[in-house]
Amino acid sequence: MLRELPLSLYIHFPWCVRKCPYCDFNSHTLRTELPEKTYINALLEDLEQHLSKILYRPIISIFMGGGTPSLFSPSAIKCLLDELKKRLNFSDDIEITLEVNPGTVEYQRFQAYRIAGVNRLSIGVQSFQDHQLKVLGRIHGSEEASNAVVAAKAAGFENINIDLMHGLPGQSLQEGLEDLNKTFKLTPSHISWYQLTIEPNTEFAVKPPKLPLDDKIWQLQERGKQLLLINAYRQYEISAYSKEAFICVHNRNYWEFGDYLGIGAGAHSKLTDEKEQTVIRTWKHKNPKDYLEKKDNFIGGKKSISDKELAFEFMLNAFRLYYPIPIELFEQRTGLSIAMVKKPFIEAEKLGLFVVRKNSMYLTNRGKRFYNDLVALFLS
Ligand SMILES: C[S@@+](CC[C@H](N)C(=O)[O-])C[C@H]1O[C@@H](n2cnc3c(N)ncnc32)[C@H](O)[C@@H]1O
Ligand code: SF4
Repeated sequence: MLRELPLSLYIHFPWCVRKCPYCDFNSHTLRTELPEKTYINALLEDLEQHLSKILYRPIISIFMGGGTPSLFSPSAIKCLLDELKKRLNFSDDIEITLEVNPGTVEYQRFQAYRIAGVNRLSIGVQSFQDHQLKVLGRIHGSEEASNAVVAAKAAGFENINIDLMHGLPGQSLQEGLEDLNKTFKLTPSHISWYQLTIEPNTEFAVKPPKLPLDDKIWQLQERGKQLLLINAYRQYEISAYSKEAFICVHNRNYWEFGDYLGIGAGAHSKLTDEKEQTVIRTWKHKNPKDYLEKKDNFIGGKKSISDKELAFEFMLNAFRLYYPIPIELFEQRTGLSIAMVKKPFIEAEKLGLFVVRKNSMYLTNRGKRFYNDLVALFLS
């Protein structure tokens, strides 16, 4: 039986000052004036079509991601959040995150975002080495990145994530660890430590930079994880580390296979319909121009998720998590019986990829290392 699940709201902002060569997110270089007001109005109109389905459901988190949402002025963000609050049922302890790029923010702006209702920041630092930031095509230097974190704290933000990448072109072990040590000095509550991947349809895919060898990256990851732990950042997902009590509510809801509504260019939604007993995936037009023209009422596509896909997608998400997952979460989030995945379950346990104890699944170190093999078992 499918029940309504915790609900998050994702809002996409598709513009950046300039496109980074490694990035395959739906982000576009801003070539004209930012259509701030028009876009905020479009977001509210986009939301309107979903309201009847989600009206009374509490919203546990809002994530404003991009692109570069911090290109939008605090008054635009305030207007958006005020209007959302009128229409939606914000939970009392709602987490509201804004992604910000160093180079687009300073103290007053941070303060104004906080007053607007933002209570968590995700700051895209990527590296503290100026030469790496140049290779990555970033619009900021390392000092600007540090200053942004210091200014965010001074403006009263207690919940701050820093995005950091590793496995960068020509990056030595020393350099990678130094990036982590510089991050610790800024004492963020959360660190996302991503391995740089070369994505298709990016500048790096056309002209690949020379990346460190796999065993060098492995070594950096092992040493980096130790450093993170020593500095009290607990790994709770493949790339996510947090201080106690600062696990990201929004991302956790994705990985625990909760529901989310996405508004904005290219945003995806996954919504459980208790009455119809279906789970529907919807995506909005990716191109900001199509989106702003409100083509097909913003909708790029829609499909209901089959039972087989539901089971697979649950595993794909849940196995990213490094804490015990109660078995009953599978039944609760998919409406399916655990018996449906009994065969791959037994196989995965036999291969030592995870263990079941006290009705919870734990990923083993082997399971963490061979994540792709583990989820592949649930495909057949
Ligand atoms: C939505 S993106 C960008 C947020 C923000 N616009 C910025 O660049 O600071 C979120 C994060 O994903 C990471 N990321 C983007 N592309 C990546 C790639 N190809 N490999 C690894 N991490 C990547 C970066 O750390 C980035 O900050
Ligand atoms: S600023 Fe962020 S979203 Fe924009 S292109 Fe660079 S990585 Fe992608």
